Amino acid sequence: MSRIVFVNGAFVPEADAKISIFDRGFLFADGVYEVTPVVNGRLVDYDAHMERLDRSLKELRMAAPCPAAEMRTMHEELVKRNRLGEGIIYMQVTRGVADRQFNFPKDARSSLVGFTQTMALIDNPNARTGVKVVTTPDIRWLRRDIKSVMLLAPVLGKQEAYEKGAAEGWMVEDGFVTEGTSSNAYIVKDNTIITRPLSNRILAGCTRKALFRLAREHGVRIEERAFTPEEALAADEAFLTSASQFVMPIVEIDGQRIGGGQPGPITRRMREFFLQEAQKA
Ligand code: PDD
Repeated sequence: MSRIVFVNGAFVPEADAKISIFDRGFLFADGVYEVTPVVNGRLVDYDAHMERLDRSLKELRMAAPCPAAEMRTMHEELVKRNRLGEGIIYMQVTRGVADRQFNFPKDARSSLVGFTQTMALIDNPNARTGVKVVTTPDIRWLRRDIKSVMLLAPVLGKQEAYEKGAAEGWMVEDGFVTEGTSSNAYIVKDNTIITRPLSNRILAGCTRKALFRLAREHGVRIEERAFTPEEALAADEAFLTSASQFVMPIVEIDGQRIGGGQPGPITRRMREFFLQEAQKA
């Protein structure tokens, strides 16, 4: 199916979408992005994604591409024009088009693009079996709290994971797991969910934020602290969260089974809470 995409103010068929070769997103990865889930044709957690977008833009001193209401309309129109039932909206803002120079251009205007991607979020078959992860060194920069399009390290980490038969790479720094290449990382021990606290070393996941709220509402304990790969191997359960996977069980780390190789009960509960809420959104 040919999609209708959004490029700098216009909805166009994907084959007609054009971006300048001088766009700083293309030349310098000088841009930020968001991935917002869509379930039953409705945006899930939209406000949290836009709050994070604003923060990313501010941290990089990048201008907002349009007023908040227009951004919402763009998202809703993309859903409508593509008849998207379930999947994601990808949106990207860059510092705009200018002759190639490293410092910020004076009069460039931010570029904005958006597109849809159909995906099975609710009935994702991986959620029934759980997925495998492998550990890999975290070779990223130290502003991982900014959702930058500079994703070469995650690309290499994910490719390494795929080549080893795993779905995700858990990145390790100074002996501790930071996060997945495109997800946040969790283990469960003695009925407590353990995950790294927010800092510049990880992205503040919107799904993570929702998970914390749901855990509080349902009386599930969360401990915010870094954990080691060794601790993860000895955990009762493990899982990851992201906008495109929600709560995804992990059943193997570096070839070693976790929790008997089955999705764990707390993970399954948290996924169920999340799905219920997403379907009501
Ligand atoms: N990735 N950590 C990293 C490094 C990520 O790239 C992501 C999301 C997350 C989870 O954030 P959220 O729950 O807000 O999706 C954590 C998106 C899905 C992506 O790049 O496709």
